[in-house]
Amino acid sequence: MKKGILLTAMVATGVITSCNWDKTTPGYTYMDDMYRSPSLETYQAAGNTAQGTSAQLPVEGTVARGYVPYDLPNTNEGYEAAKNNASVPASFAELDAESGKVLYGQFCSHCHGEKGDGNGILMQREKILGVPGYGADRLPDITPGTIYHVIMHGKNNMGSHASQLTYDERWKIIKYVMKLRQDQSATAAPAEPAA
Ligand code: HEC
Repeated sequence: MKKGILLTAMVATGVITSCNWDKTTPGYTYMDDMYRSPSLETYQAAGNTAQGTSAQLPVEGTVARGYVPYDLPNTNEGYEAAKNNASVPASFAELDAESGKVLYGQFCSHCHGEKGDGNGILMQREKILGVPGYGADRLPDITPGTIYHVIMHGKNNMGSHASQLTYDERWKIIKYVMKLRQDQSATAAPAEPAA
C-alpha cells in the first residue's frame, strides 16, 4: 500500500515539475533535434552567404519562370496605352477561339452572359448592374489589349481576375471574347438612321 502511495507521489511530482508554464520556452526537451530542426530555415540569419541569410534573395529584376509582368498601371492613361495591343503575344493570332469557351463559362458568363450580351444570370437576378455586352454598339473601343488590361486590373464593379487565371488562360478567354464580340456586333440592332 505504502509503495503504491510512494509511486503515485513520484509520478505526480514528475508530471507537475516537468510541466513548463512559460509558453515562450520549450522547457525540458528530450531528443532535442526532433523539436528543433538543426537545418537552416530559408532566409534565416546565417553566415554562409554574402547576404548573411541562409538563402540568397534573387537578383533585382528577377522574373519567376512562367510569370509575365504587366506594367501598365490601373489608370486612365494605362487603359489608353493598352489599346495599342503591345501586350498581345504573337501566338494570339493562331489561338483557337473555342479554346477559351470553357474558361469563359467559368469566369465571365455569370455576369456577361453566355453569348456576351451582358445578360448573365447575375444581371437577370439583378445582383449586379451595368454589365456591358461585348458588341461594338456598347463597347466601340475595346481591343484585345484593353480586355487584358481589364482582366488584370478590373474595372469599377468588375474585379481583377489576374490571380485566378494564368497568362495563357487570359489570352484564350480574350480570343473567345473577341469572337462573341463579332457575333454580338453582327446581331446588334442597326443604329437609328440619322433623321
Ligand atoms: C462580377 C461580374 C463580372 C464578371 C465575373 C466579369 N465582368 Fe467584365 N465587367 C463587369 C462590369 C460591371 C463591367 C463594366 C465596368 C464599367 O465600365 O464600369 C465589365 C466590363 C468588362 C469589359 C469592358 C471593359 C471596358 O474596356 O470598358 C470587358 C472587356 C470585360 N468586362 C471582360 C470580362 C472578362 C473577360 C471576364 C472574365 C474573365 C469578365 N469580364 C468577368 C462585370 C463582370
